[in-house]
Amino acid sequence: MQINIRMILLVYLVGTLRCFSSFLNKASIPRIAKYFGTKGRYEDVNPHLLEDILAVNTSILQPPFPQCRPIHLTAIIRHGTRYPTRAIFKHMQDMYKVVKSATPDKENWVCEIQTQWKMWYPDDMDGRLARKGVDDHKHLAVRLSKLFPTLLSEENLRGGLVKFISSSKHRCLNSTLSFMAGLTEQWGIQDQTFDYEVNDALMKYFVHCTKFVEDVIRNPSALSQVDKFKEGPEMRSVREKIANQLRVPYKNITADMADAAMNLCAYELAIKTVNSPWCQSLDEVDAKIVEYANDLRQFWKRGYGHDINRKSSCILFHDVFSRLDKAANENTSGQQVTEAVTIQVGHGETLLPLYTLMGFFKDDEPLTSSNYASQHQRSFRPSLVLPYAANLLLALYDCGEGNLRLQPLINEKPVSFPGLTESQQAPMPLYEDVKEHYKELIQGCDFETECELFSRPDQVLIKEAL
Ligand SMILES: *[C@@H]1O[C@H](CO)[C@@H](O)[C@H](O)[C@H]1NC(C)=O
Ligand SMILES: *[C@@H]1O[C@H](CO)[C@@H](O)[C@H](O)[C@H]1NC(C)=O
Ligand SMILES: *[C@@H]1O[C@H](CO)[C@@H](O)[C@H](O)[C@H]1NC(C)=O
Ligand SMILES: *[C@@H]1O[C@H](CO)[C@@H](O)[C@H](O)[C@H]1NC(C)=O
Repeated sequence: MQINIRMILLVYLVGTLRCFSSFLNKASIPRIAKYFGTKGRYEDVNPHLLEDILAVNTSILQPPFPQCRPIHLTAIIRHGTRYPTRAIFKHMQDMYKVVKSATPDKENWVCEIQTQWKMWYPDDMDGRLARKGVDDHKHLAVRLSKLFPTLLSEENLRGGLVKFISSSKHRCLNSTLSFMAGLTEQWGIQDQTFDYEVNDALMKYFVHCTKFVEDVIRNPSALSQVDKFKEGPEMRSVREKIANQLRVPYKNITADMADAAMNLCAYELAIKTVNSPWCQSLDEVDAKIVEYANDLRQFWKRGYGHDINRKSSCILFHDVFSRLDKAANENTSGQQVTEAVTIQVGHGETLLPLYTLMGFFKDDEPLTSSNYASQHQRSFRPSLVLPYAANLLLALYDCGEGNLRLQPLINEKPVSFPGLTESQQAPMPLYEDVKEHYKELIQGCDFETECELFSRPDQVLIKEAL
């Protein structure tokens, strides 16, 4: 009996010692968390929130005159932290299978996954909002009410001056409800409920833009740069490094599986706040390459890669500016602004084409399969701007006598409109200057026209020639 217990203890000790090293920092942030793309945590792009998730610094907003008052806020927000979708889950399972059957060796992460980690993702949670995602939106709601206390106020909410619009996707609806709950819980509102509007034409415009669907989503060659990169030398080195650690042929580790290894690390951190052994399957050099493959996909599918990507967001762009105009006109004509705040909840795919349309994160050179090395300083990096609950805020100020100004913020940080001159930007751009700058888009950029499949004669010719 005694011997048995000792043996069990010994086996246990050897087991834990074998995987000892990374045991110590379960709660720390993985080094590769900087490269998670659209699967990153909001706190990791706003690190001051790691200390206090409700921290707000109101002095980041610096209107030029003391009499300036915010009169309207539009917030376009991505849903919060979610579970993996089925497609990603499949690659995660493939990767897990190979690790489980790998020959145990000195590699700690392999050993740790084999002995201490289980695939736990519920498969009925396909893309659903996680508990953490509920908090993402609750916390954001509280912070925005602190940053814009006169707009996102209890009085305005109760008075119907705060409008909610959501994509019909369950994770967006739940994010919208969570945002509302953040406000009502903060103010202890129990006697009143609030409505939201479901509007896919606005928040999921990309499925309604025929030209985009046909030319990009259903067109395999639209993402040829991504495919080339996945087969290229950089990604090959990532695959080889993982394969060597697992002692399997490098062909057995696909680019999608390397991506899945990083995703496993990302999901464990975002959903469970755990620094999982998966985070050691890639070093930073590998993670940057996997990140680039994902950035390439975003670039060609949602960003500058194809002109229709940005144009697909024309409908949302016009909606934003007509909302701002309405508030501006109401204010200058002496009426009360009827919509003090608009909260619009959608997807990463809702924000990225709009950012692209407005000229944010544009590099001199396009991202391609062959220029990874020269793109280290690129500004097109979803890891830095598109985490869960990512948001674009547009705050309209009245500075007296029809002097209106518009402050854009990305993820609660003030930014500049790309292309405005420095003197136009500082201290806060005039609304008129912003509209003048985007004049062509405001006058054109018609969703129906842009999204028609054969909208331009040259397009028809190209199609026929093919
Ligand atoms: C708040 O923001 C202002 C302006 O950007 C900055 O100078 C100040 O250091 C910030 N305060 C804190 C506590 O971060
Ligand atoms: C989301 O909302 C629906 C409907 O209110 C609810 O049934 C579901 O449990 C919520 N949570 C998640 C994670 O989807
Ligand atoms: C590698 O993949 C091949 C083909 O799928 C399979 O037959 C083989 O068992 C795999 N090798 C290892 C070591 O997993
Ligand atoms: C416009 O909004 C400002 C700030 O809230 C307010 O002081 C001003 O009275 C409004 N203008 C009119 C004409 O109502």
